[in-house]
Amino acid sequence: MSTLCAGIAAWRALRDSPGWAGRSVGLVPTMGALHAGHEALLARARAENERVVLTVFVNPTQFDDPADLAKYPKTLDADARLAAPYADAIVAPAPGEIYRDGYRYRVTESERSLLLEGAHRPGHFTGVLTVVLKLFNLVQPCRAYFGEKDWQQLELVRGMVEALLLPIEIVGCPTVREPDGLALSSRNRRLSPAGRLKAAEFPRILQAADSAAVAAARLEAAGFTVDYIEDVGGRRLGAVRLESVRLIDNLSLASELEAMTLPAGGRRPIRPRTQSSTP
Ligand code: PAF
Repeated sequence: MSTLCAGIAAWRALRDSPGWAGRSVGLVPTMGALHAGHEALLARARAENERVVLTVFVNPTQFDDPADLAKYPKTLDADARLAAPYADAIVAPAPGEIYRDGYRYRVTESERSLLLEGAHRPGHFTGVLTVVLKLFNLVQPCRAYFGEKDWQQLELVRGMVEALLLPIEIVGCPTVREPDGLALSSRNRRLSPAGRLKAAEFPRILQAADSAAVAAARLEAAGFTVDYIEDVGGRRLGAVRLESVRLIDNLSLASELEAMTLPAGGRRPIRPRTQSSTP
């Protein structure tokens, strides 16, 4: 069972309690609407740390589109049920607690954050890096777990930890996919049944095309609106829009999509270690 801390004061009181002193802490930062991809992060954190903290905070500063923020699903009860076998604490602060400065203080990366996602979502990574630093300061983890689906985010968080001398290990975890290859995302639930079927063509075309340009052309021909498809550092990264839902994905140009694909007709069983187990 997890303890739900509805604000910063409740979390700090728990963090200062005897059961937490001197323990290794793994952090899984999320915006809620948890799915099996988050579950894989939680399971990994459970296996590698004495205490696991899940944060649920829909971060307003990383949304460039207010409509996207308004539509973001809020499912705290379901999130708490999914996290219960893995997380010791669920920390869900209010926006006013996280942005008590009114967002006057920010973490800005001045080069790589402006490419790819950053070029299409102005200010997005400043919002992400700022909130991630705040969550790191709040939770004070030894390790923090991020999905490889948001590859650019993962790289920028690694860069921030290095640049700001933070004593935190950043653990990147493989993308979890539906049986048809679509990367799990809370946005997938906004697709119509027909759109959901079509969405599976995105990773397939991304993987099969000989070049980024060919992938982009094929995706457009298949009915997607392409924001970008680029090959960078041995990976192909892309963002497309379908039924006004924005999908992102990336893969190693040498990898196989099926590596973390969920089995057809069911969830990949993830076995948490018991709460008392230690690494
Ligand atoms: O990947 C996410 O869910 C968010 O960008 C994060 C890291 C929780 C920051 O709000």
